[in-house]
Amino acid sequence: MEMNIQLAEKTSRIYIERDCRLHLEKYISLDCKVMVITDEGVPKQYYEEVLSQCKEGCLFVAKQGEETKSLTVYEQILNRLLELDFSRKDLVIALGGGVIGDLSGFVAGTFKRGMRFASIPTTTLSQIDSSIGGKVAVNMGEVKNVVGTFYHPEAVLIDLNTLSTLPERHYHNGLVEAVKAGLIADEKLFELFEKTENIEEDLEEIIVRALHVKKNVVEQDEKEENLRKILNFGHTIGHAIESIYHLEGYYHGECVGIGMMMILENEKIRERLRRVLCKLNVPLSADYDVEEVIHFIKKDKKANGKYVTVVQVDKVGEAKLLPTEIESLRGNKI
Ligand SMILES: NC(=O)c1ccc[n+]([C@@H]2O[C@H](COP(=O)([O-])OP(=O)(O)OC[C@H]3O[C@@H](n4cnc5c(N)ncnc54)[C@H](O)[C@@H]3O)[C@@H](O)[C@H]2O)c1
Ligand SMILES: [Zn+2]
Repeated sequence: MEMNIQLAEKTSRIYIERDCRLHLEKYISLDCKVMVITDEGVPKQYYEEVLSQCKEGCLFVAKQGEETKSLTVYEQILNRLLELDFSRKDLVIALGGGVIGDLSGFVAGTFKRGMRFASIPTTTLSQIDSSIGGKVAVNMGEVKNVVGTFYHPEAVLIDLNTLSTLPERHYHNGLVEAVKAGLIADEKLFELFEKTENIEEDLEEIIVRALHVKKNVVEQDEKEENLRKILNFGHTIGHAIESIYHLEGYYHGECVGIGMMMILENEKIRERLRRVLCKLNVPLSADYDVEEVIHFIKKDKKANGKYVTVVQVDKVGEAKLLPTEIESLRGNKI
């Protein structure tokens, strides 16, 4: 199936087809130089399949893990593109999870002020969430996504068959972003998580629904001036926990799950969320020092002096934005 995201300056196409990685020419033109960026954890088979379809393909394999989203690796890739004489008309393909997507998008968006960019996300998190919406960035030290821009891929190829090799913890981690999408904007999606007895069977519907939520929000507010902030439900505390654990202890989706549990005030919804997160086998809480959480929230790029905009859900499928004093987040909420 195909979905288009209408943006101010371009249309980003999303395809959700099993095995689409094997038929790239159906979706994107490969009549140019192609740099495939991936990491060591992505099975070799996938990049060999992608490269075999490119006439002038080359490969950059980064180390796996969050530390790859760094200015150092960013510069290494830019150097390779320069050495190989890539132009703006040539193509970068991100093949991997959110780390590779964020890094490759930032490379493509800034090399010669923007070159062609397509994405083949291979984790649930990147298929459900990170590969659309155009947010691309690298981290500096332990501060996440602090150097970045908005740059949308011309096409996103979502191949559910690539998930067969994904470790279970990563598989579940990414699904938390779809749970979030349900809570903020799609009651049926949240109910699907409550009802499902076999996630695998419902996965396509889960991904399509979650992408619809993100598409609708991003189309209305591309640069996160207002409405798009609802996508940050659970992220204020979630990001702080990620930072406290030095981006190592918990995965992104897991932190978002914990963050949603911490911030939700409606007890009934909180209990429903608790059951869904248990079903997904993700943690419900983490050990942390409240002072440290407050410290990281203040440092978050979304904070504005003493205030931060918190997303709250009082009714499943509806979110509201509440400017909140950071200090008031102490106490029962965290
Ligand atoms: N840009 C956005 O809007 C946005 C949104 C949410 C998260 N993010 C970012 O995404 C990143 C997390 O992404 P992630 O959860 O996909 O993690 P990830 O990119 O680190 O991938 C997880 C692991 O799975 C491996 N892997 C990937 N595909 C595989 C496959 N098919 N089979 C086997 N192994 C595979 C990778 O090598 C990696 O070790 C974070 O940096 C986060 O900040 C960005
Ligand atoms: Zn997220």
